[in-house]
Amino acid sequence: MDKLDQFLDNLQEEIYDEAREAMGEKGFDRWRNPQFAGKMENPDAHGRVLGTCGDTMEIFFKFEDNRVKEGSYMTDGCASSGVSGSFAVELTLGKTPEELADITGEDVLKTIGKLPEEEKHCAFLAAQTIQDALTDYMNSAK
Ligand code: FES
Repeated sequence: MDKLDQFLDNLQEEIYDEAREAMGEKGFDRWRNPQFAGKMENPDAHGRVLGTCGDTMEIFFKFEDNRVKEGSYMTDGCASSGVSGSFAVELTLGKTPEELADITGEDVLKTIGKLPEEEKHCAFLAAQTIQDALTDYMNSAK
């Protein structure tokens, strides 16, 4: 391994260590292996919220028998927003609209386990986006 490779390797290790420290093991794993990421074609519900931080979160749902059958998220935000979007979608699977209405930023945060103080709002942005998608669903169901 030449010096540059060695340097890059060390750098990567450092970044991973920092991320692991900041988000905890569970959040770190999810960051490395994002689940439920991506746009959904023909969703039954679509939420889109611009956070005060300037980042946007989108969440998509497909429902079956009045429960979330599939979900996905997209965000142009920080690593914490991706992790938040992913766990937020995970929390919604199998839930009814009434149960979705109860999901809060605290719930998302609790599921992740840990986020850096200055990025906790990302979990709240994800919860808000769930609520936006729910509003979309309720409006289209009328
Ligand atoms: Fe904006 Fe994380 S969503 S900083």
